[in-house]
Amino acid sequence: MCSRSRSRCYLRRMVRVDAAGEDGVPYSVALARSHVFGFLVAVTLPRGKETVGDSVLARLDAREAEVARTLRGFRQVQWVGGRLAAREAGLHLGATSWMVGTGALGEPLPPPGFSLSIAHKRGLAIALVADVDGDELGVDLEDDLAAARAIEAEVFSLEERAAIATLPEPERDDARMLGFALKEAVYKAVSVRLGADLGYDDARFDVGDGRTPSIALLAGAPQAALEVIVEWYGESVIAAVRGERRSRRGSPSSSAR
Ligand SMILES: CC(C)(COP(=O)(O)OP(=O)(O)OC[C@H]1O[C@@H](n2cnc3c(N)ncnc32)[C@H](O)[C@@H]1OP(=O)(O)O)[C@@H](O)C(=O)NCCC(=O)NCCS
Repeated sequence: MCSRSRSRCYLRRMVRVDAAGEDGVPYSVALARSHVFGFLVAVTLPRGKETVGDSVLARLDAREAEVARTLRGFRQVQWVGGRLAAREAGLHLGATSWMVGTGALGEPLPPPGFSLSIAHKRGLAIALVADVDGDELGVDLEDDLAAARAIEAEVFSLEERAAIATLPEPERDDARMLGFALKEAVYKAVSVRLGADLGYDDARFDVGDGRTPSIALLAGAPQAALEVIVEWYGESVIAAVRGERRSRRGSPSSSAR
């Protein structure tokens, strides 16, 4: 239920999903459901940075568990959460074996036949998986209004900031968080194909009327058509972007939706 101003409610009403498991048992699945781009899973993380126990690591592929044991603190907690979420989604989509590697730019590498993107914050890790080889998926999770405000000048152009400033005051923070999440998701979706040097000023965020935000790569930047789905999970925003579309496993190539 949106308890703030009515206009802010519009922003937050785009899609609401049940945030009930967010503070549940650490490393449990808080959300698992179909998504326009594939299947979305959220895994609850502990708030602290205690070493991940063997019983949790045993739920990963042995090679993933080996990598996890080399990590420390929040990095280990979040990395494991992202891998658990990806695994849950991959198995749901019919994978018979599942191991996620890491590419040269830090991108997650799912098994052949699947596409994947991961994001995590304190308390929650999410993974978006499609049973499509080579779909360019990007997902991001943001929950910190103050942080989004603090980096506004780095992330948004003067034009984007002017558009955000026209919104009623309570909506501006949501718009900043949303725009930041979309830019991060765009980067994850297309950085491997278009190059890691993609910057925040290569994409233009348009908050629209608050219900239909969009993002596009600017002329001069490497081009890719982008599809966007934004939703709220409690006080967090989940932004999903799909760039180039490939064929579904076992079916002929299909064009973008
Ligand atoms: C890569 C980046 C997006 C990660 O964001 P973050 O807030 O640090 O962390 P998140 O929790 O959101 O995401 C982390 C996950 O992103 C994924 N990731 C990292 N690099 C990636 C890449 N190049 N491509 C796709 N996914 C990537 C990984 O799966 C990682 O989790 P893991 O290491 O546990 O597997 C961020 O560090 C970055 O470089 N941002 C720049 C964005 C930008 O310039 N955008 C402009 C385009 S409009």
